Amino acid sequence: MSVSPEPPFLHACRRLPTSHRPVWFMRQAGRYMPEYRAMRARHGFLDLCKNPDLAVEVTLQPVRALGVDAAILFSDILVPVEGMGVHVEFAPGPVISDPVRTRAQVEALRIPDPQASVPFVLETLRRLRGELAPETALIGFCGAPWTLANYLVEGGGAKEFTRMKRLLYEDPAAGEQLLQKLAATNAAYLAAQIAAGAQAVQIFDTWAGLLDPDDFARWALPYVQQMIAEVRRMTAAPIIYFARDAWGAADSLRSCGADVLSLDWRVPLDLARRTLGPDLAVQGNLDPATLFAPWPVLRERADRVLAAAGNAPGHIFNLGHGILPETPVDNVRRLVEHVHSWRP
Ligand code: CP3
Repeated sequence: MSVSPEPPFLHACRRLPTSHRPVWFMRQAGRYMPEYRAMRARHGFLDLCKNPDLAVEVTLQPVRALGVDAAILFSDILVPVEGMGVHVEFAPGPVISDPVRTRAQVEALRIPDPQASVPFVLETLRRLRGELAPETALIGFCGAPWTLANYLVEGGGAKEFTRMKRLLYEDPAAGEQLLQKLAATNAAYLAAQIAAGAQAVQIFDTWAGLLDPDDFARWALPYVQQMIAEVRRMTAAPIIYFARDAWGAADSLRSCGADVLSLDWRVPLDLARRTLGPDLAVQGNLDPATLFAPWPVLRERADRVLAAAGNAPGHIFNLGHGILPETPVDNVRRLVEHVHSWRP
């Protein structure tokens, strides 16, 4: 009987040695790929998310084109809030026509059963596990309560996110109930994704950097800790936490309970690993804009990330945030080859 090999990505999450440095990219499916643009010419973004045939295809596009070590479910962090009773559209960023701004609106939010509210996501994951090679990991994801709350209260993206902080000052109980409901919804969502075939999950806290370290410890950390604890009760799948621009809250990050911290490019990985200690793996953290540089410059910058990550197991190569829409695909492909052939 042959034992199917565990993906190197999962080994690195568990800080076990790997034959090569695993690599994938946040937002690796998307508009920088001609295959994705061709799909988008025929289908709306939410149609891609909600139709398992299309979502499977888009998830696999970067795996085929780049040879990355992991596939990430094609969806969006706002998709599961529809089941809470919030209507979301994309243009191309999220637009919420009826933002959540009052206590009554928070109280009306439901904590949905993922089997009923996002069956298409679970079906997409089940099919992906059947399609992917055994050495390619499948990653599920969700948004962190703090980041999602900012979109729901603001009504979409914003130059300055201020409304969620205002809600927390003006009606703390309502703000905290919103964070609580988002944590419960997304913990159940992650657990369902893992049961459907996701082998690891990432929690995206894109707007963590809006908070000073004390506020991070109060409004971001506890809800993430609660989600991680809930998911842990059901599964041993690695949990990755991406708190963008939040290194000032490093003490909180160290105690979040995740297996892997995904870091942006503002913190050198050698400093991060010294500060976080040996029990956390790290992921990251090349500046996505370096993918616009000529190859020798890009290679040198990638080598710096690899060197800073050090030789101890427990590093997954990634960008410090998502791939930018105009990124040249050839640079991304070369970067994957380079990371795979790199040896300490
Ligand atoms: O990583 C992947 O390839 C999986 C797919 C994925 C998408 N969104 C697809 C998407 C993931 C993991 C996300 C997460 C997400 N969505 C985050 C956290 C990560 C981050 O980038 O900070 C956030 C903040 C969102 C909210 C969101 N969705 C924004 C701000 C936008 C507009 C961004 C843009 O590039 O214009 C979206 C839309 C979106 N989500 C697109 C894609 C491919 C573009 C939609 C299109 O094709 O028109």
